[in-house]
Amino acid sequence: MLDPAHQDLIRSSFQRLRCRPEALALDFYGILFRDQPSLRRLFPTDMDAQAAKLSKMLVRLVRSVDDLSRMEAQLRDLGRYHVRRGTEDGQYAMVGAALLEALERQTRGWTDDHRAAWTEVFRAVAATMIAGARDMPAMPRARSA
Ligand code: HEM
Repeated sequence: MLDPAHQDLIRSSFQRLRCRPEALALDFYGILFRDQPSLRRLFPTDMDAQAAKLSKMLVRLVRSVDDLSRMEAQLRDLGRYHVRRGTEDGQYAMVGAALLEALERQTRGWTDDHRAAWTEVFRAVAATMIAGARDMPAMPRARSA
């Protein structure tokens, strides 16, 4: 479960976006391809549909931030899909850095606390996707005695 203070920061940052979530996603891809041009070939030429998909996912994540386990099955599937599309584990950090930069640029009153909250969410999402791709549990489950 995410720190409750971080949950509030995630929700409030999304309310303070300067742009629609689709534009945030396009900004994110612009930053990603500026910093990691070699990743561009993995994606379609027209990025509008891709940005729409990513923005829907971000909206869903923000809505589920009180209990991200609601999205576990979907995120694990998404992780498997990513492997089929040629994604490697090491690329998650690049994606995380670009997403953080886009959020910072597009959120009014962005603070280090927003950064910490989004970093926590991104890590949880990436860990679940990667675990799904390997067909392993994202987090060790408590064993019943
Ligand atoms: C937490 C991390 C990530 C999230 C939330 C995410 C989200 C998404 C979503 C929602 C889609 C659309 C899936 C669909 O068509 O139904 C997608 C597609 C894709 N993502 Fe990611 N992604 C993440 C990480 C990455 C990474 C690290 C890479 C590596 C470069 C990547 C590359 C791609 C590619 C190549 C596609 C397919 C594009 C196409 O339609 O041709 N993603 N991603």
